[in-house]
Amino acid sequence: MNLLSMDDLRLEDINWLLSHAEQSEQIETQNQLTAALLFYEPSTRTKLSFDMACHQLGVHQLDFQENMSSVSKGESLYDTVKTIESIGADFIVIRHPKENYYKELEQISIPVINAGDGSGEHPSQCLLDLLTIKQEFDNFEGLKVAIAGDIKHSRVAKSNAKTLERLGAEVSFVSPMNWQDQTLSFPYITMDEACENADVLMLLRVQHERHVQQKETNIDSYLEQFGLTKTREKMMKDTSIIMHPAPINRGIEIDSDLVEIKRSRIFKQMKNGVKMRKAIINYCLHKEELRNENIN
Ligand code: CP
Repeated sequence: MNLLSMDDLRLEDINWLLSHAEQSEQIETQNQLTAALLFYEPSTRTKLSFDMACHQLGVHQLDFQENMSSVSKGESLYDTVKTIESIGADFIVIRHPKENYYKELEQISIPVINAGDGSGEHPSQCLLDLLTIKQEFDNFEGLKVAIAGDIKHSRVAKSNAKTLERLGAEVSFVSPMNWQDQTLSFPYITMDEACENADVLMLLRVQHERHVQQKETNIDSYLEQFGLTKTREKMMKDTSIIMHPAPINRGIEIDSDLVEIKRSRIFKQMKNGVKMRKAIINYCLHKEELRNENIN
């Protein structure tokens, strides 16, 4: 079973993952499992939390470093993944700059877990974000979630907006005009409106590396216009929380002094990343037996 897009998951699968992530139990396997983590883009949180999840589940990891592999000799993604399947890996986690890269891998029979495809999707981040929100509010129905920042280039925004809407949340976006994504049918509001009304304020990183033009938006005035300043934080409801997938551009999306305030769940999200990635590995490897055992 792959996890490539949040569209792959039915609501019952999402609920299973949310509840399984909170359980510390591990799935006993007969054989030692082996994984390969292929990161063609930099990562700290996703890579290290999959590392930690594998460690805690007793999964052995193959050592793959893109710049030391035959990728540097021009080997294709398909041939690299086919090689890893052939030498006996049980599953593969892939981050790649190309949107929908996984469409090249339809002939691969071991599970592929998408750790981010360009500006496409980031399903494991979305699931750990859902876990963080559920821990706070218990359910999603009617919850006001404002997603603020570089919507057009953000895979986190795409996975989260459509999934939160499926779960009953009211999603809105905040973004400068040139980072808005008109293919997504969510209303755009101002940052002041978001701070006053949202239960969850989800900030996004400005993705400089994906910008075609160097100066797509005036970064010097970004915090004042679209970011979370100390003044705006005071406008938030007592019960509202701040989230950010990180890495954070301190002083751009958020005033540096707000990163660790009481209502920030940014480091909680990272902690939840390990729990959720363990649940995802179990789901992808053992979905049928888990279903048969009716674990929920
Ligand atoms: N949130 C996230 O995907 O972080 P990394 O790029 O560090 O993995």
